[in-house]
Amino acid sequence: MSHADEHAGTRRDFLYYATAGAGAIATGAAVWPLVNQMNPSADVQALSSIFVDVADMEPGTQLTVKYLGKPVFIRRRTQDEIDAARAVEISGLIDQTSENPNKPDTDASDMNRTMDEAGEWLVMIGVCTHLGCVPIGDGAGDFGGWFCPCHGSHYDTAGRIRKGPAPENLWIPVAEFTDETTIKLG
Ligand code: FES
Repeated sequence: MSHADEHAGTRRDFLYYATAGAGAIATGAAVWPLVNQMNPSADVQALSSIFVDVADMEPGTQLTVKYLGKPVFIRRRTQDEIDAARAVEISGLIDQTSENPNKPDTDASDMNRTMDEAGEWLVMIGVCTHLGCVPIGDGAGDFGGWFCPCHGSHYDTAGRIRKGPAPENLWIPVAEFTDETTIKLG
């Protein structure tokens, strides 16, 4: 896998290109079509899986990878972020989808959204569910998670919509750890 990374302004996020020739991801400005490409058929999926090395990620950092034409946020959360997310009652959320087999990608339960039991690793499609902009991360917005400045959607530290026009939580893609420091997307 070839890759290059760069710092985005003063933020700690950085971009990781999984494929050669991928264009820059313009945070907060680019519009990504909200087409459900994240559940491809098995043969397509096998061809399109990518592996991301997260060995160098410290708590409180985020990696953005481009996958199937969309940004995917990989965040290693701090204990404060985990505690904040788990303290929230699902009944108080805008999108309360939980354990719905028809909508596993917007599940509101922090336990179901994260990859590990401790809740440290959160992987999400970095596309606002309002009109498809790329939210700003690194503790942005009123809930310390992600903020979409286009029309003011605030997401919490689990990527759940808390305020603004977006109707759904940030989507969760198919992802798994293949070893302690490698995440497979797709
Ligand atoms: S696209 Fe995110 S708030 Fe409108």
